[in-house]
Amino acid sequence: MSTTFQLDTSTSRANPTPAPMRRLTVPMIRARKVDGVTAEPIVMLTAYTARQAQLLDPHCDVLLVGDSLGQVIYGLPSTVPVTMEMMANHAAAVVRGSYHSVVVVDMPFGAYEASPQHAFEAAATLLKASGAAAVKLEGGEAMAETVAFLSQRGIPVMGHVGLTPQAVNVLGGYGARGRSQAEAAKIVGDAKALDAAGAFAVVVEGVVEPIAIAVTEAISCPTIGIGASARCDGQVLVTEDMLGMFERVPRFVKKYEDIAGIISSTAEKYANEVRDRSFPGPDQLYQPK
Ligand code: KIV
Repeated sequence: MSTTFQLDTSTSRANPTPAPMRRLTVPMIRARKVDGVTAEPIVMLTAYTARQAQLLDPHCDVLLVGDSLGQVIYGLPSTVPVTMEMMANHAAAVVRGSYHSVVVVDMPFGAYEASPQHAFEAAATLLKASGAAAVKLEGGEAMAETVAFLSQRGIPVMGHVGLTPQAVNVLGGYGARGRSQAEAAKIVGDAKALDAAGAFAVVVEGVVEPIAIAVTEAISCPTIGIGASARCDGQVLVTEDMLGMFERVPRFVKKYEDIAGIISSTAEKYANEVRDRSFPGPDQLYQPK
C-alpha cells in the first residue's frame, strides 16, 4: 500500500500536466445544497487509475473509486469479493492523478458492517493508505450508527441507498428498487437516517424516479443519482459504462462514446501493420548518427 501522497506529475506523458488547482473539499460538496436547493449539480464519475483520474479530474467535482472496479477492472462476478488492498491501491492511484476533485473511496463488502469500530479501522486504513478525502458505504438505517461514529471522528461518509450492489445475495439481483410502497418507504427512511447521522451526500441507485425525487426533497444533504432522476442534486456513472466500454450495460447508462469499438479497430490496425511489416516505420526507428 502506498503511504506517500505526493502528486506524481511524471505520469503525464501524453499531455502537459494541468496546472495544480486547489482541490475541492467535502464541506464544499455538502454546501452545494442549501435549503433543499442545489444550484450547481454535483458531477461525479468513477475512476480507478491515475491516468483516468487525470483525464476526468478537470470535469468532475467528485471522483469515486467505486468497488465496481471488481467487475470493471478485475472481471469478478460482483463487488462482493473486492478487497481492502484493491480499494487502497486504486484510490492511491486516483489521488496521485487528480488535483481538483474530491476523491471518495468505497468501503469493500465485509470491511464495515460488523461494528462502528471495525468500520472506523477500515476507513482510517483506506484514507491513510490512499490520501482520499472520504469513504462511501452501502446501507441505510442499519448503517446510521456507523456513519455517525465515523463522521464524528474525522471520516466523512457518503451513503448509498436503493439498489446496493454489495447486497446482491440478499436482493437476488440488480433490478430497480422502490416499486412497492413498503420498499419505497424504506428507501426514504434509509436516506433520512443517513442524513441525520451526518452523511455529507447520499448515492441513490436504481430506484423508480418518484422515490429519487422524494429522497432528494426529504434530506438536507445532496443526493447523487445513478438510475434515479435528473432532479437529484448530482449524478454519477461508471466511467467505462458511459464511455461505451461494454456491450451490455444497465438501462440507466447513457453511452456517450464507443470506446470498445475504437480499441478494437485500433488493435486490428496495429495487428495488420505488424503482420505486413509496415510497423515500425521510419518515424518510429532510431537511426545511427
Ligand atoms: O461502485 C461504484 O462504482 C458505485 C457507483 C456505481 C455509485 O458505487
